[in-house]
Amino acid sequence: MKLEIALLAGDGIGPEVIEQAVKVANAVAAKFDHNITWNSALTGAAAIDAVGEPYPDETHEVCLKADAVLFGAIGHPKFDNDPSAKVRPEQGLLKMRQKLGLFANVRPTFTFPSLIDKSPLKRERIEGTDLVFLRELTGGIYFGKRGREDNGNTAYDTCTYTRAEIQRLAKKGFEMAMSRSKNLCCVDKANVLESSRLWRETVQDMEKDYPEVTVSYEFVDAVAMRLVQWPNDYDVLITENLFGDILTDEASVISGSMGLMPSASLGEKTSLYEPIHGSYPQAAGKDIANPLATVLSAAMLFDDKGLKDEAAAIRKVVNKSLAEGVVTEDLAEGGKSYKTSEVGDWLASNL
Ligand code: IPM
Ligand code: MN
Repeated sequence: MKLEIALLAGDGIGPEVIEQAVKVANAVAAKFDHNITWNSALTGAAAIDAVGEPYPDETHEVCLKADAVLFGAIGHPKFDNDPSAKVRPEQGLLKMRQKLGLFANVRPTFTFPSLIDKSPLKRERIEGTDLVFLRELTGGIYFGKRGREDNGNTAYDTCTYTRAEIQRLAKKGFEMAMSRSKNLCCVDKANVLESSRLWRETVQDMEKDYPEVTVSYEFVDAVAMRLVQWPNDYDVLITENLFGDILTDEASVISGSMGLMPSASLGEKTSLYEPIHGSYPQAAGKDIANPLATVLSAAMLFDDKGLKDEAAAIRKVVNKSLAEGVVTEDLAEGGKSYKTSEVGDWLASNL
């Protein structure tokens, strides 16, 4: 297969972890006889510094014509500490999601047998945990009407959803449930919010089209609690943008390391793959960041292109590196640790 992939390394550790994912993907391509072309483009603080804009039009063009986008991370402390900054790296992320129509953010949480004791949760609670959130990504309070009134002394952000937006996200959720355990949980706050009541009504209407799927409806506060008490009760969860932002950070901790969880953002035309972790500026340039979440994001990319054996090969070699202790310092527990680039090299040559 010929694949053209847009490569958006971004800020902080983004370039380093992306480089390892490229090594591994190229090794997969060589082994399975595929042809990958990588097209790099600017995003985030790096793009602001270069052209004054965190998601430049040229970058958008590169993404639009690609078969998929592989993304590192964006964000830089010099913007976080400056509330008056006119442009911020995060605006680039939101613009990119909106312009590429990346409406469904797929964020899995699973455990690795060799790392189970690194989780802050007890082994018996999380053994076998394998769940996936589908977070709506281009609507809700992130993109609703916002502003100030009363001479700046009152502020508001609004959460708006259309039935169509809910349906297209829920459809992905039902389909994913069909391919897994056929259990779907719709997370909302329908006891308080009108937008949540529309979510619930819409998903209820769709149940008849998927008679094999068992749907549960739970309030977001209860899910926040049960997720860390009984993560194995969940399989596929669908939810709106802000609830999903919060719950997926919570869920990512279950696995024991933020450095391990991949994600996909599915769009109507192209889709984007990125690690869940952020730009981790303290580690930037030090060759110490864990590249596995990005490598596993590349596996999700292959999976979505129907290249299941290729994705499985990546997961297998990642598991092997963990089992054999070829890990970056965050996972080394004082034992021997490897550099980011060494882990990438090892994965590529052991594939
Ligand atoms: C995420 C991040 C972003 C979000 C920020 C950086 C805008 O937290 O991808 O979850 O809130 O969506
Ligand atoms: Mn977040």
